[in-house]
Amino acid sequence: MVVDDEADFRELMVKRLTRKKYGVSGASCGEDALALVKDRIFDVALVDLKMPGMDGLELLRQLRNVSPETEVIILTGHGSTETAVEAMKMGAYDYLTKPVDLQELQVLLEKAVEKASLRKKNLGLTAAVASENITSFHGMLGNSPAMVRLRSLISKVADSASPVLVEGESGTGKEMVSRALHFESHRAKAPFIVVNCGALPEQLMESELFGYEKGAFTGAGSTKPGLVEMADGGSLFLDEIGELPLGLQAKLLRFLESGEFRRVGDTRLRWVQTRIIAATNRNLKQEVKEGNFREDLFYRLEVVKIQVPPLRERSEDIPLLANFFLKRNHPHKDFAPEALAALQEHSFPGNVRELANLVERGALLSDGEQIQAEDMFGYSHGKAMDTGRPETLAEMEKRHIQRVLSYTGWNKKEAAELLGISLRNLYRKIETYKLTAG
Ligand SMILES: Nc1ncnc2c1ncn2[C@@H]1O[C@H](COP(=O)(O)OP(=O)(O)OP(=O)(O)O)[C@@H](O)[C@H]1O
Ligand SMILES: [Mg+2]
Repeated sequence: MVVDDEADFRELMVKRLTRKKYGVSGASCGEDALALVKDRIFDVALVDLKMPGMDGLELLRQLRNVSPETEVIILTGHGSTETAVEAMKMGAYDYLTKPVDLQELQVLLEKAVEKASLRKKNLGLTAAVASENITSFHGMLGNSPAMVRLRSLISKVADSASPVLVEGESGTGKEMVSRALHFESHRAKAPFIVVNCGALPEQLMESELFGYEKGAFTGAGSTKPGLVEMADGGSLFLDEIGELPLGLQAKLLRFLESGEFRRVGDTRLRWVQTRIIAATNRNLKQEVKEGNFREDLFYRLEVVKIQVPPLRERSEDIPLLANFFLKRNHPHKDFAPEALAALQEHSFPGNVRELANLVERGALLSDGEQIQAEDMFGYSHGKAMDTGRPETLAEMEKRHIQRVLSYTGWNKKEAAELLGISLRNLYRKIETYKLTAG
């Protein structure tokens, strides 16, 4: 689309570009241009900056909303570079100074068209994600062989009464898998209850899990059923099972073997049908060797084991996931091709959660509509330090954590999420590196 109030120039451009096999329309003012984009999607708009009525900048602003797929090239008279820079900041693809050098225009057009078609592909991908999301497996995205296998394993074991152990690194999607196990099963209409095994000291945890009778201990003013009862007929998700205090491990094993338990302070046995799903990012076998986890409980849990693969072993899922995380909060933003490439090369120690955080951070820090690699990673990959000596990993980690902490205004919970590590882990690192807010 060529938008210029000067009829001679506009017609000349339309003629020349048509000869170059582009499908071209002309508009003599901003209002006409906006009317044109109502029923046609243009890859590129050449827009004169100075026009009576709506000027080029205002048209650019409006096009961004009504026709985000159109790349805008601004045409300026000489001496208006400042406005051209302004236009670039507002998301113009580039600018050209009049009189237009046709050779230069041709090169620019080809690049802009290429970018527009890449963007269309991205949007197509998003549409695919959006439609897949409806039919997706309980929100679990990914078409890599590893994910396909994971989904079929989940449907196979969902209905069984046997406990399940879900193993995987932090942020791989263990909780998501556990929910899928519940909602894929005949228990879907009964409760799915989550409990973090490391959250409470042993006595409190026991009364939480198995309930208590009035007067069982100081503060037990009334009778309270345990979570295993509340999840009767459904599933109880024991997150971070490796943190479960040893004493309670014995009680859990007894429950797993018989479905029977006693409320704290009650002598009567109770029986429920609650499916136990346990998750851990620790190596439980190692914990058994070190005496932190009961061997018999481990073997009981391990009968049905689901291993959630780390993201680096299914990097073909990265573009799909990245686009999904981007479009759900920022539908008009896109990745620069280098940014997507950088994501695919990243090793993702924090797995899917880290990916979601990186994408969100990139979207918030990016200036235009396009996210660059630096927006996500905070520094360009491989940039040399000026000390001459390359940084150690620890130095880099320290510097990066400091940066993220100041970015979140020392909100540690937010910082831990951005970093893709647990809050506890962050506290440990703050202590190790002696980081301070000052
Ligand atoms: N396959 C997937 N498709 C879409 N989103 C995913 C997928 N896997 C994980 N996520 C998202 O990534 C985030 C982390 O997942 P989840 O909480 O299930 O991980 P986790 O293994 O339990 O992590 P942790 O060990 O830290 O508790 C969640 O926001 C989840 O929705
Ligand atoms: Mg989890």
